[in-house]
Amino acid sequence: MPHSRLACCAFLVLFSLPGTGSEAQPAVLVAVGDLACDPADGSFNGGDGTATACRMKATSDLALSLAPTAVLLLGDNQYDDGAAAKYLASFDPSWGRLKAITKPAPGNHDYGVPGAAGYYGYFGAAAGDPAKGYYSFDLAGWHLIALNSNCGAVGGCGVGSPQEQWLAADLAAHSGVCTLAYWHHPRFSSGPHGDDATYDAFWQALYAARADVVLTGHDHIYERFAPQTPGAVADPARGLRAFVVGTGGRNLTSLPIVRANSEVRDAAHFGVLEMTLHPTGYVWRFLAVDGGAVLDQGASFCHSAPGWPSAELYTLPPCRLIDTRNPDGPRGGPPLPHGASRSFPVAGACGIPADAVALSANATIVGPTRSGYLEILPTGSAPTGTSSITFRTGQMRSNNLQIALGLDDAVTVRTALSGAGSVHFVLDVTGYYREEPIP
Ligand SMILES: [Fe+2]
Repeated sequence: MPHSRLACCAFLVLFSLPGTGSEAQPAVLVAVGDLACDPADGSFNGGDGTATACRMKATSDLALSLAPTAVLLLGDNQYDDGAAAKYLASFDPSWGRLKAITKPAPGNHDYGVPGAAGYYGYFGAAAGDPAKGYYSFDLAGWHLIALNSNCGAVGGCGVGSPQEQWLAADLAAHSGVCTLAYWHHPRFSSGPHGDDATYDAFWQALYAARADVVLTGHDHIYERFAPQTPGAVADPARGLRAFVVGTGGRNLTSLPIVRANSEVRDAAHFGVLEMTLHPTGYVWRFLAVDGGAVLDQGASFCHSAPGWPSAELYTLPPCRLIDTRNPDGPRGGPPLPHGASRSFPVAGACGIPADAVALSANATIVGPTRSGYLEILPTGSAPTGTSSITFRTGQMRSNNLQIALGLDDAVTVRTALSGAGSVHFVLDVTGYYREEPIP
């Protein structure tokens, strides 16, 4: 049946939410630091490593399996001193397989030989000017910035240093787009190295420019922080979301002091961070080696994402899009437990086209074992704590909704119950909205 357009309802203005920018293709990044063991390391084992050390072959196998567009190296790429011969003997057979798409940042171990000559010699022009080591580039509508946190090698990292002045100018020249910066030493970390105010000026400049993401390594852990200010105050509206991804293979360390705003921590798995860059937001996954288990994931719009302009409604034959009473699957079970935040892919199902920006739908709650409410959000949006549908224990409730689609053309359902329990969720779609230019 062809879709019918409701001429009476043209240019229905949706609530103010970021657009999905579905016209551009996303790019997939892999990011990680603290990678290749010294060939003389007792755990080198011909490059294969052991269960607890020198897993650069396994992490690079995982990265290859993700078929990334680009690889961001977060420093300490080659232990123990970044010598040229060691790059060739250890890094090159493992992560070197991705060299053609690699955008590196240098770590302290890369500066173990004068001027990090092995690092700059191995990566060549991709590492930038050897006297600086900081540079920037654009990818999939994003601006990406590699910084050099080996401050003594480049005239400092503080306010007024050549690097800080370059960063501020680079940000000013690339305003209004999603922005990610990466370097080796974290400003905030629950790992043994801890917080380090040496990098405050980087954070100040990035925060002032409304940048979105900071990636570092150095601590051999995985950690994700909630968006926060340079002063470590939670700031969901415009804070920088920071990750520490020092799980590239050398070894793993520990989490001695949990820092403010730390949301997810793992010191037990080697792995890599995958980031899918959409023009207006990003989707992240932390994947472990030996099977690619997803240990952390989420999505967020960028601070620069625009609001919806306007959209037109197209009706569809009523169609059951989601039913958690069905067998487990992307739009099926299991039921939603208390505190869950689950993303459901939408495009392509029930005749919903890839360029749909929102749905017209009927949401139904079945068999809640507790009272509570659901909040239905475009995937990538911060929760607001408002209710899309409210219910009491055992009650069946329905509500008609307009639901904006988020990153990956998905909607996220957050479950808030009065205690431990679960609820079934059914969504019947009756139409979709498509963006239209205002004439
Ligand atoms: Fe380091």
